[in-house]
Amino acid sequence: MSNENLQEAVKQKYGAAAKQVLAGGTATCGGGAESSCSDPITKDLYDTRETSALPEEAVAASLGCGNPAALAKLCPGEIVLDLGSGGGIDVLLSAKRVGPAGKAYGLDMTDEMLALARENQKKAGLENVEFLKGTIENIPLPENSVHVIISNCVINLSGDKDRVLSEAFRVLKPGGRLAISDVVVRGEVPTDIRKSVELWVGCFAGALEEFAYRDKLFRAGFENIDIEPTRIYKVEEARDFLASAGLDIEKVAPLVEGKFMSAFLRATKPFSRANVVGPSCRA
Ligand SMILES: C[S@@+](CC[C@H](N)C(=O)[O-])C[C@H]1O[C@@H](n2cnc3c(N)ncnc32)[C@H](O)[C@@H]1O
Repeated sequence: MSNENLQEAVKQKYGAAAKQVLAGGTATCGGGAESSCSDPITKDLYDTRETSALPEEAVAASLGCGNPAALAKLCPGEIVLDLGSGGGIDVLLSAKRVGPAGKAYGLDMTDEMLALARENQKKAGLENVEFLKGTIENIPLPENSVHVIISNCVINLSGDKDRVLSEAFRVLKPGGRLAISDVVVRGEVPTDIRKSVELWVGCFAGALEEFAYRDKLFRAGFENIDIEPTRIYKVEEARDFLASAGLDIEKVAPLVEGKFMSAFLRATKPFSRANVVGPSCRA
């Protein structure tokens, strides 16, 4: 499948998820029938103290696999960019953490998600937020312009991850931090899983193997690379998910057990004498 076709499939899936929320429902990662609170990937990611202060629709649209805004240890005054911001939950949480002196950008390519996110921003009454339309492969921001890049379960969906990481590197200020949650694979993955577009769009089959992820981050120019598992999935939890993609669960199970995890990935853009523009608070 070409990158263009893949992006189109992803847009349709997440456009439909946004419409579910706008119609009063809850978005689901694979677009399936289960609610996200019973989904092993998206459930219980946020503290209720964080979510109770957000619009219900921002929480209902949450399709991530971690809580990057909390793990990134954001500081007042920082500029944050969320790659694949969806309904905006992590952008709104980031905006609260960086305060009025800072700013949180959300970037998404799906019109319905952007409409939902902007509606959620209005309901939250936050002014230091801006949602941008575009792709994470071509970030519509200048180089050296943000302190922190977060992302929540999106990079696994891209057909050109090298491009995404080099774009992230470009827009980060020297000393800036990449702090992302993503699905990561440990070891070999069966080919039939890799080939399944349904699983890809539903957060799984586009996931990188952890050493391959490290290598891509390193080749994009990042340093201080760290990958921390936050949740390791059991086959039993994914049984319905895998079966609904038409896979023979008994055959696939032993090959999948313990190999998929949500992880928090950290890395920094090195300082260079040529382009130091002032340290962020973590540098
Ligand atoms: C799994 S959802 C995650 C949404 C959000 N981060 C969250 O935690 O709820 C993926 C989101 O990324 C967006 N997306 C996927 N691929 C993208 C790309 N290549 N460029 C821009 N946005 C993309 C989709 O439109 C969707 O809103």
